Amino acid sequence: MLTLPTIQKSMELYDKARRIIPATTQTLAKGVGQYSLGVAPIFVEKGKGSKVFDIDGNEYLDLSMAVGPISLGYCYEAVDAAIKEQLSHGITFSLPHIVEYEVSELISSIVPNAEMIRFSKTGADVTSAAVRLARAYTQRDEILCCGYHGWHDWYIGVTDRNYGIPEATKNQVFTFDYNNVDSLLDSICEKTAAVILEPITFTEPKKGFLLELRELCHKYGAVLIFDEMWTGWRLALGGAQEYYDIDADILCFSKAIANGMPLSVLCGKSEIMKLLEKDVFFFTTFGGEALSLAAAKTTIVEMRKYDVPDYLRQQGKKLQYGIKNIIQSHKVNWCDCIGNPTRTMMTFHHSVYSALELKTLMQQELIRYGILWNGFHTLSFSHSDQDIHHALLAYGDIIPWMNEIILNGNVKNMIVGKVLEPVFRKTTHFNTKPHVVHG
Ligand SMILES: Cc1ncc(COP(=O)(O)O)c(C=O)c1O
Repeated sequence: MLTLPTIQKSMELYDKARRIIPATTQTLAKGVGQYSLGVAPIFVEKGKGSKVFDIDGNEYLDLSMAVGPISLGYCYEAVDAAIKEQLSHGITFSLPHIVEYEVSELISSIVPNAEMIRFSKTGADVTSAAVRLARAYTQRDEILCCGYHGWHDWYIGVTDRNYGIPEATKNQVFTFDYNNVDSLLDSICEKTAAVILEPITFTEPKKGFLLELRELCHKYGAVLIFDEMWTGWRLALGGAQEYYDIDADILCFSKAIANGMPLSVLCGKSEIMKLLEKDVFFFTTFGGEALSLAAAKTTIVEMRKYDVPDYLRQQGKKLQYGIKNIIQSHKVNWCDCIGNPTRTMMTFHHSVYSALELKTLMQQELIRYGILWNGFHTLSFSHSDQDIHHALLAYGDIIPWMNEIILNGNVKNMIVGKVLEPVFRKTTHFNTKPHVVHG
């Protein structure tokens, strides 16, 4: 059995950091709840290509890529050069910078319905702006959502982490179930300002689902918002609209667009977006910060030049098919690898062991093979065939080994660190609106 890496410096720093940083992380998916405490590295020092190095000097193949933003690779030369070039001219200014216009033009030429464009810093900034725009445009308050849309009040109110959110806010937002038109029909009505969803998470849309959604929005006069944090710049250059040939009214992007620099994009039909001229307030100090925009400009150019979404799909397919092959050839029924190849996830189900116990053991074993994994496979343009081979070699050893451990009832004994916590994603059958009676 391979040894686990030494993570002494990580553990020492964690002991100090947790006293002054609540949750010890700024991003839930990077915290100790998602990386088994006592086994997984906690602090990273640097990255290059598809690899990261922790503060103890251990090297890992990264299968999370900063939870999405690193689309081309760590320290990707062309993007870093663009950032340095911009840095030599200035970071942020007293007037709008020309790069704001240049990136707007680029996005408009690639993303369907991106007739007008604004920038901000986080995904939540733009999903919240989209919701405010929809409310202003329709003169209605109610929002129907499906998926995760960020930390702001309007969305978090529908989840089980809703402390501090006023009741009035909670009472305006409801969830519907993905791939279930009836659940939308149950809640959409003449009071609905917007339907917002991630066009796909890990289940492909059923035939006609997105189209029916589009038509229902038309019928009830609601704005259709696609939250493309994950689909943008990964599924296709034009995002889910292009990939599924469906029109949305407002699109929200972030993550992969600037290879790690903080940038988010709100874009959509000018009839709605033009409300941002005067009626709807959406301005922020760093919205036009030029380093991130310079990074985005080069990232988009590189993505177009090399058809990065197709590359991600090909590499993702090799990994997903490879894992499925291993699963099938060992007749394993307690795990699966699901999702669109551009972003897949391991699922676990067993009658004795919880999914989190099995996930913890798999994460621990992948760490032995020098792989940093949080349950998902988010690849980048830097993930080579060799990297995929490395990951499949590890899965090829671990899956049959875990099969034996499970058969022998030994899972709990084999877990060295702390069992992982659930990913915060409770979004279905949650705050569902009472059935609407359509006249
Ligand atoms: C689908 C989706 N929407 C919105 C957000 C919020 O983005 P941010 O964390 O940048 O505010 C996320 C973050 O993971 C996301 O996955």
